Amino acid sequence: MQSKSWYALYLALLSLLLGLGDCRGANILVLFPHASESHFAVMRTLVAELASREHNLTVYSGHGLNDNLERVVEHVVRPEFDFWSNLQEQAAPGGSLEDLALLSERKLRSSLASVGARAVEHFLVQAPVQKLLELSTAEFDYDLIIVDYFYTEALLALGYKHNKPTIGVISTDFGNYMNAVQEALLPVACSPIDYEAYTKDLGFSARLSNIRECMARRKQFYNEHYTAQEKIIRKHFKIAVNIPELQAHHLALLLLNNHVPLWTPRPLLPQIVPAGGLHIRGPRELMWNVKRFVEESKNGVIYIQLGNEQPCGQLPQPKLQILFDFMSARKARFIWTCHDVKTLQGLPKNVLIQHSVPQIDILAHPHVRAFIMNGDLLSLQEGITRHVPMLGLPNFRNERKNMQLAVDLGVALQLEPSNFTTAALNWALDELTKQQHFQLTIREVSSEFRDRPLGALANALFWVNYVVRHRGGAAIRTRGIDIASNHLHLFDLFVFYFGVAITVCAVLIAIYFGVFYAMQRKRNDAKLAKLS
Ligand SMILES: *[C@@H]1O[C@H](CO)[C@@H](O)[C@H](O)[C@H]1NC(C)=O
Ligand SMILES: *[C@@H]1O[C@H](CO)[C@@H](O)[C@H](O)[C@H]1NC(C)=O
Repeated sequence: MQSKSWYALYLALLSLLLGLGDCRGANILVLFPHASESHFAVMRTLVAELASREHNLTVYSGHGLNDNLERVVEHVVRPEFDFWSNLQEQAAPGGSLEDLALLSERKLRSSLASVGARAVEHFLVQAPVQKLLELSTAEFDYDLIIVDYFYTEALLALGYKHNKPTIGVISTDFGNYMNAVQEALLPVACSPIDYEAYTKDLGFSARLSNIRECMARRKQFYNEHYTAQEKIIRKHFKIAVNIPELQAHHLALLLLNNHVPLWTPRPLLPQIVPAGGLHIRGPRELMWNVKRFVEESKNGVIYIQLGNEQPCGQLPQPKLQILFDFMSARKARFIWTCHDVKTLQGLPKNVLIQHSVPQIDILAHPHVRAFIMNGDLLSLQEGITRHVPMLGLPNFRNERKNMQLAVDLGVALQLEPSNFTTAALNWALDELTKQQHFQLTIREVSSEFRDRPLGALANALFWVNYVVRHRGGAAIRTRGIDIASNHLHLFDLFVFYFGVAITVCAVLIAIYFGVFYAMQRKRNDAKLAKLS
């Protein structure tokens, strides 16, 4: 009897912990315009988990779930929009990915704004989505909308139109983009996001250039990105509303896929939920051919995935040759994930190209010794969680930043593009596989990354359910998101106090000279009187 009541109490506590307490099933609409496989990994886990907890989901995405889930209705929106090749055409016409990576931040932001808008537009004009847009509020039977939040703010208009809360999922802690979202909420002096080498005593000139940079960046974001998204809203939703207003009133939650120690600590509002690693579920059995390839390898397996922006078929020939020379001379076997090709000309015998096994499952296999990657944050989290030391070959600034962090944590090595040679690759891989400390450190870092009151996914689910339960999360929404920069950073108050100070000084000076003058005159009068 007693043990039964203990058991009930235990169950109640457990369900409370898992955020299941008073869990109401909801109809959730998921909009996922980007076809990027890595962003999609986040959504796939979230959707599967929400479906297993009594929610009904309808997913519109540019990428199939490849999973037959109960309570999930899927509309694959084809054709896919190739974000990276569009970006490359826009920003570095005729150039390579390396040229794109060398672009100035300002130019890259500009191109992202315009290609981002094109991606959303491409999504919205497809037939299934058009049908969704035509629904009247009475027919729009969803309680909550979840969107991939990456140059897709126009989608907030759907929630606005039907008065439903929207949750944004930021799959990667993409540097510039996050800045602009967060700066709307934090004074720049508290925001260490952009200070790569953050120190607590920033000098006057550092702070001056930070604030200038921050204001310029924000202005550019408003002028280019928000303007492009607002244009889409006017065209497809027939509503005139600006993005900051939409964010302030309809963005219930931002799920951020990062967590310490993979980012710098920063002040957060309850509305911003760090759920880093939320895409990482328990490992599953590998597909038979991949499994056999891994298990038959006597000298371990090295896993390679060079990022969504770098299709294997488009690797420059010299780079490909270096990789082939390097791989063919090693005893280990290699698994290379390519989403674009099934085979490559001249591929060494010890390399298997695969495109359908999730890398979290491959990385979970004990034979996998190292992970050669581009510094993508999601991959980095996976490598750490699965205790596989990494070799980074980063291209972009955000990738280099992630990689540097991993190197500083002692779980990875990175090669500069200029150091991309067979000898350097061999050296780095030998270090990673032979030096014991990488294995030991990565276990510590992994445990630190996962050490939280609730796991990443459980935390994300708790907050999604919170929004469902409590008026669309109205109480946790910040009022500050659409504050103008000069108000947020109190510039107008500085000007006011400066004016007051000048006035007080002027009055004091006037009084001083007035008194001085009066006394002078009195003295002169007295002198004159004496003379006469
Ligand atoms: C989810 O779908 C099932 C089956 O269609 C239905 O019985 C249930 O009421 C739905 N739940 C919600 C919250 O609409
Ligand atoms: C370049 O590669 C060599 C090994 O060939 C290595 O010793 C060196 O540290 C690398 N340098 C950088 C900057 O990665």
